[in-house]
Amino acid sequence: MAENEVLVTQEFDPTVCDEICEQYKDWAGATIPVLQKTQDAYGFLFPELVERIADNLNMSPHQIYGVITFYAQFYTKPRGKYIIRVCRGTACHVQGSGRISEIVKEEFKISNGETSGDLKFTLEEVSCIGACGMAPVIMINNKTYGNLKPEDARKIFREYANLPEDQG
Ligand code: FES
Repeated sequence: MAENEVLVTQEFDPTVCDEICEQYKDWAGATIPVLQKTQDAYGFLFPELVERIADNLNMSPHQIYGVITFYAQFYTKPRGKYIIRVCRGTACHVQGSGRISEIVKEEFKISNGETSGDLKFTLEEVSCIGACGMAPVIMINNKTYGNLKPEDARKIFREYANLPEDQG
């Protein structure tokens, strides 16, 4: 994973970050929208980006990290193009969501919270996502899959893995 971080940060072009900060710099509550927009633009909040934001907003990186660590929506590590959320709530657990998580781990060699080396998949085990009637349930980005049998889940994961780079 460290390799990916180096790769991304080596290519850091601050132009978009500067534009976003410029839009918000006179706002009292600029930090959160700036972090949201820069994260959307760059994928995650790596150290050079955080330093640049801090400079632009006349804050210290330490203050910025204080905000980042407070909110679960901010990420300091790269995330995959496809976020696989496996529900581990009670209904899904009883219906075998643990096995589906295992399949993600087998297929992509990642643990919960990790991203595959090709930056394609991130696994997030989550608590009830409110679709218990369809247990076991997973989401891949915004798409929900319910009543999943392990072999169907594996098929779906492989389909995503084989999608061309510009699709999905
Ligand atoms: S427990 Fe999985 S959707 Fe509710």
